[in-house]
Amino acid sequence: MSELAIGVFDSGIGGLTCVKELTRLMPHEDIIYLGDTARVPYGTKSVDTIAKYAKEDIAFLERFNVKMILIACGTVSSVLMSRPLFEGSSVGAYSGVIYPTVTAACAATNNNRIGVIGTPATIRSGCYGKAIREIRSDIKVFSKACPMFVPLVENGYTDKDNQVARLIAEEYLEGMKREGVDTLILGCTHYPHLEGVISSVMGENVKLISSGAEIAKYAERVLITSSQAAGREEPGKLTLYCTDSEELFSENVETFLGHKENITISTCSVK
Ligand code: DGL
Repeated sequence: MSELAIGVFDSGIGGLTCVKELTRLMPHEDIIYLGDTARVPYGTKSVDTIAKYAKEDIAFLERFNVKMILIACGTVSSVLMSRPLFEGSSVGAYSGVIYPTVTAACAATNNNRIGVIGTPATIRSGCYGKAIREIRSDIKVFSKACPMFVPLVENGYTDKDNQVARLIAEEYLEGMKREGVDTLILGCTHYPHLEGVISSVMGENVKLISSGAEIAKYAERVLITSSQAAGREEPGKLTLYCTDSEELFSENVETFLGHKENITISTCSVK
């Protein structure tokens, strides 16, 4: 057993979809979350800039002697998939969202047609398609960058009946629908907040796979099988850091997690 915290980071608030699932699955774990809200979005930046930011985010979490680091950012996970981000790191375990998410999608599809949506950087990397084909070469993958989804979420345009969100979703997802995918990977951790809109555009029969939730399930399996899960009886502590205004961040925290109780929120610098 280990009472050390789990570290999670994202470019902003999207990774809270992972935190929400982590606290549901493992309510006794301490979690330290970093949202790099001052530098979001990462999805429109160059690979070298994303690498620099990700290394600083990891170094920040390492200061807390965490037992595991989860990269709850689709962009960092995809663009830097083959970079040695954790070389020389003291952290025992780490994961990005790609492997857990594609494993779930491959298990979910019946017609072997999977769609992937994400930030422009994620889709450009082609890494979801590559990872899927490594598991199942018979699966066809259809990808689409959805750059306007992140600002929709950040500005609260998430309601299923929101006409602006619906119009944008229809425009982005038209091709996916035509290709008849039966499983759609939400390859950006912001997107689960648009689940209602996306599902109503794609149709209820299309299974949506949330990368934030899948990495949390993966973390649970790793901690249990390696006997590193927390053994305490009381609920774990949730400590959230952001690199920009704490005020703005805490409004979003309430929307994303559904509450603000027993959560410590502070601004920090990662440089
Ligand atoms: N959370 C990021 C991701 O999952 C999206 C926002 C960004 O572009 O940084 O890709």
